[in-house]
Amino acid sequence: MPTRRGTTSNRFIYNEQRQFPEATGEFSEILTQIILAAKVVSREVNRAGIAGILGAVGETNVQGEQVQKLDVFANRHFLDALSDNCHVSVIASEENEELIHTDHDNKHRPGKYAVAIDPLDGSSNIDVNVSIGTIFSIHRRITDGQDGGADDVLQEGTRQLAAGYVLYGSSTMLVFSVGRGVHGFTLDPSVGEFLLSHPNIQMPKQGSIYSINEGNFPYWAPEVREWVVSLKGAHNPAGKPNSLRYIGSLVADFHRTLFKGGIFAYPLDYKDPKNPRGKLRMLYEAAPIAMIAENAGGLAIDGQRRILDIKPKSLHERTPLFVGSEVDVNFARSFQDR
Ligand code: AHG
Ligand code: MN
Ligand code: MN
Repeated sequence: MPTRRGTTSNRFIYNEQRQFPEATGEFSEILTQIILAAKVVSREVNRAGIAGILGAVGETNVQGEQVQKLDVFANRHFLDALSDNCHVSVIASEENEELIHTDHDNKHRPGKYAVAIDPLDGSSNIDVNVSIGTIFSIHRRITDGQDGGADDVLQEGTRQLAAGYVLYGSSTMLVFSVGRGVHGFTLDPSVGEFLLSHPNIQMPKQGSIYSINEGNFPYWAPEVREWVVSLKGAHNPAGKPNSLRYIGSLVADFHRTLFKGGIFAYPLDYKDPKNPRGKLRMLYEAAPIAMIAENAGGLAIDGQRRILDIKPKSLHERTPLFVGSEVDVNFARSFQDR
């Protein structure tokens, strides 16, 4: 029975859980904790615009409160929410160099799950009131014993139990997949609930929009430059010059691609010798976005390999990312398979 529009995200999660008789509800509780933190961050993001007028960190905002950097604020709230319910053993956060162990004090029931999170994606856009987001990924632990470890998050993307993002835009949206389609919920601030607004999202098989930071053109490999030049002519699947749209927040650029089709790419670039594998991080950016893309009928590769097949080796490992409509990603791949 298809879930009707307007259903709350928590009711949707409970309905999904009922499809699995052996479910204990712990996994659902992790999702609802993430949703709770997302509501808190959404409220702060919307107020931060006011705080932003008064300038950067350390000053007080119009309510006389201490202005906190939003990514520090977001990280604190998501980590608190995930540590609260004891079902999460370890967390890899973009904001924390080391793996976070949450249930040291819970000797009786070590958490069965591991979470990777980008608490605030698109930080460069925070102070200019442009859409930003949060990206999360949930794995089942594979290590035994009391404390989890890095291996619990260093799993292939195909092993993710759930992946999702929150987009703090003109409205706040939650989009996630537990491997049974991709569903979008829009926050109704008047009731403080995410309501099902976009059930079973399907990405168009082809688009005519490409999304990339053209400023890096001089630093790309020749085959990537050749691909982008082809998108600006007629020799591409659209048969015409594609439109360029680039927001600079992965969540926002991907969200548009999910609904309108086309491709988002952050290729390797040779600009920064410190980041030889590109800018985006595998655990809490590329892998969750790839799970959503594939569950919506799209594709996600690192140029040649399927993102979800890649086993990460370190928490903050970077990867090139080409994600979007099947036809457009395969067209990009054709330049790199040569
Ligand atoms: P974060 O703010 O979490 O560090 O992520 C920023 C990322 C991603 O959101 C976006 O696609 C990319 O940085 C934009 O990078 P450029 O500004 O180099 O284009
Ligand atoms: Mn990010
Ligand atoms: Mn971030």
